[in-house]
Amino acid sequence: MPPSKTVTDEMLCKCLEELRLAFPTGIIRAWQVKDQLLKECGEVMDESTIRGRFISMGKPLGGVIPVSTPIVDPSPIQSVLKPIVVEAPKVKIEYPDELKAFIPTEADVAGYLERDLDKRLETHYALDKHPITQGPQGTGKTFSHMFYAFKQQIPFMLISCYQDMVLHKFFGDKTLKDGSIIFREGVLVKMCQWPSVILFDEINAVDNAKSYDFHALLQNRELFVKDGDDGKGKIYKIHNDCRIGFAQNPRSAKYIGGTVKPSSFLGRCSYITFPNFSKDEISKILKKKYTALKDDKVMEFTDFFFEASAYLSQNSIAVDISIRQLESCVEFFLAGMKLEDALHDGMISVLDSISNPTAKDGLFSVARTIFKDLNQESKQGEKIDSLKEKLASQISADILKAAAAGFGQAASTLGQGAP
Ligand SMILES: Nc1ncnc2c1ncn2[C@@H]1O[C@H](COP(=O)(O)OP(=O)(O)OP(=O)(O)O)[C@@H](O)[C@H]1O
Ligand SMILES: [Mg+2]
Repeated sequence: MPPSKTVTDEMLCKCLEELRLAFPTGIIRAWQVKDQLLKECGEVMDESTIRGRFISMGKPLGGVIPVSTPIVDPSPIQSVLKPIVVEAPKVKIEYPDELKAFIPTEADVAGYLERDLDKRLETHYALDKHPITQGPQGTGKTFSHMFYAFKQQIPFMLISCYQDMVLHKFFGDKTLKDGSIIFREGVLVKMCQWPSVILFDEINAVDNAKSYDFHALLQNRELFVKDGDDGKGKIYKIHNDCRIGFAQNPRSAKYIGGTVKPSSFLGRCSYITFPNFSKDEISKILKKKYTALKDDKVMEFTDFFFEASAYLSQNSIAVDISIRQLESCVEFFLAGMKLEDALHDGMISVLDSISNPTAKDGLFSVARTIFKDLNQESKQGEKIDSLKEKLASQISADILKAAAAGFGQAASTLGQGAP
């Protein structure tokens, strides 16, 4: 929505007055005025415009700046010149126990394959950007932030976003005791005061009308918690080394739902587009992760993944398969499942989920051209089937014979017994 020209100075001052009454102890920020303006008048105005309007009225937000005070505004040149920290901090940080548990361990990142993208993400974070990792499903958008936290040995918090999510729900809990508010800080509020990584995953799930909180968080690097300080209201400054990142699947034929974020949000971020894994990367990951998987199987599973992806795209089937499904196939297989079942349960039967059984047969045929054991398995299966048939016909012949013999005996018994 474009900024309204109808917002008068009086309207802005009224919003400010109301906020001052509501939060008498804190400095009122542009984003709060912005929210108030939206609430009161249904008008949307950019935060920088709000700041500018108050300055032009001679009432800058945050009080009058004395002339002698140098204005410290982090210039882009300064941040570019900042050394890029790519190694874990030398001084060990003593985190409180409740945050220590959020530091990723070796087990959390087992089998992780470092790519050039990881270096780029490190650079974005080292330069205090707010990176959005974006791209197709299962390309490592989420995992890469956790790996960064692992390398830095700092806590990692993943917040999975949803449509009507509002940030303040994560601030903490308030309870009433003898008529007074007791506020307990949530993990988000605790973590943002330490070197850490806070990842808002699937950010495009959030309704755009609910994204304003995020602008404020990125713009001002602080959280205003209304119930903080036991109801008095508190502004939490975000630690300089608290990294805030995002991940999203941009909308496409395969990813329905979700919003396209407005430029007021995107303008405060940097972007890394994750491509699909290459063949070489997939086979390296399988080898790293599944040491029990023989080399020829690594090749077959890798080939199958790429042939299957090609089959789906050539037939314009709007379903994605990712490394996740491939890993499920491998894991089922290593757990002793028949190869055919492992492939079906891990990947191929996704086509039943989207009600496309014809394509499923096609995908299985693709698998048969790649896995040599699959043909042996099915030949063995055929052998077993024909054995079963032979056995069944043998059994039915024997039963008939026995029945006929029994019938003859019964008939003769009957005959003997007849008066
Ligand atoms: N660099 C990597 N090295 C090894 N395995 C990886 C790597 N990146 C991702 N994976 C594997 O791929 C899986 C999916 O990764 P991740 O959850 O990060 O994908 P995503 O892009 O966030 O997917 P989605 O769009 O569904 O959220 C991981 O669980 C892991 O098994
Ligand atoms: Mg993800």
